[in-house]
Amino acid sequence: MNAITVKNLKKVYRTHKRGKGMWNAVVSLFNRKYENKHALKGVSFEVEEGEVLGLIGPNGAGKSTTIKALSGILHPTSGDVKVIGYVPWKDRVKYVKHLGVVLGQKEQLWWDLPAIDTFYMNREVYQIPNNKFKRRLNYMVKLLDVKEVINSPVRDLSLGERMKCKLIAALLHSPKVVFLDEPTIGLDIIARDRLRDFVKEVNQKEGTTFIVTTHDMQDIEKLCKRIVIINHGVIVYDGLLEKLKSTILNNKIIDVKFETKVKGFRLKGCKLLEKGDYNFVIEADTKVTKIKKVIDYLLLNYEVADINITDPPIEEIIQRIYKEKKKWVHT
Ligand SMILES: Nc1ncnc2c1ncn2[C@@H]1O[C@H](COP(=O)(O)OP(=O)(O)O)[C@@H](O)[C@H]1O
Ligand SMILES: [Mg+2]
Repeated sequence: MNAITVKNLKKVYRTHKRGKGMWNAVVSLFNRKYENKHALKGVSFEVEEGEVLGLIGPNGAGKSTTIKALSGILHPTSGDVKVIGYVPWKDRVKYVKHLGVVLGQKEQLWWDLPAIDTFYMNREVYQIPNNKFKRRLNYMVKLLDVKEVINSPVRDLSLGERMKCKLIAALLHSPKVVFLDEPTIGLDIIARDRLRDFVKEVNQKEGTTFIVTTHDMQDIEKLCKRIVIINHGVIVYDGLLEKLKSTILNNKIIDVKFETKVKGFRLKGCKLLEKGDYNFVIEADTKVTKIKKVIDYLLLNYEVADINITDPPIEEIIQRIYKEKKKWVHT
């Protein structure tokens, strides 16, 4: 069954355009000019109950706008949205009882108070019975390892600690649907892993439906089977990550550093993207040459100091999707 249905969602932001400088500021008071920003140009997708959907795309693609419309924070220009039977921006009061939202780039905890105070407040707002509240809080605090943290003022916490507390605040009332907008942005690897494990565990244990936005492919790999890629307010891919990987994500970026000066590099299926005296950035087509072969070749022929293998950035993946000129979106 579908938990979320989005049909032809559009959002046009109308912004007041004004020139630079004092004079233009005065002029624009009398002669207002507006600019329309088409942030969502007819977005449609569905999310099944209990699914973790990855909504990915570069900066400015329309991810946050989608999340805000689905949360009921923002009134879209047109289109239909139903989340567990509610129209978010119409049924907001009833709807929020079943909804958890984490906006990665927005402060959602009381800054000068310890996070535990925000948790207590949410207990009141959502009328969570005390024993249930305690049980759930203990469970989440343990899972995210923040026992030492929740009693200190939020302003003294690290970015990762704050994000974990935000996640707890958003999930205390056991919502059926949770939206996480860039939950891992700016976090270190350990905090990222903890967060991903947490989402996975809650999803599997409680059947919670998640939409996670990110521009980090690794988040997606760990969490989602299915992804929706959005670019310039348009969905350019909707389908299984596996399928995308087997057709487009064959390439890997290998960042390799050397102990001694290096000259050139040639290997079948590999392209040298960057070359310094002591480092290469190589793009390897793993369909042509297996990644192991590339690494073996490097280790055998150079004095390697460090190797780092990553996926191509999301911008590149999107370009490839365009190039493939296939019809990726099945609507
Ligand atoms: N309040 C706003 N007023 C005007 N333009 C906005 C507003 N919020 C977002 N936008 C614009 O809409 C587009 C999509 O933004 P957003 O949904 O935040 O993208 P993302 O989250 O994918 O980075 C961007 O071009 C952004 O500049
Ligand atoms: Mg955003």
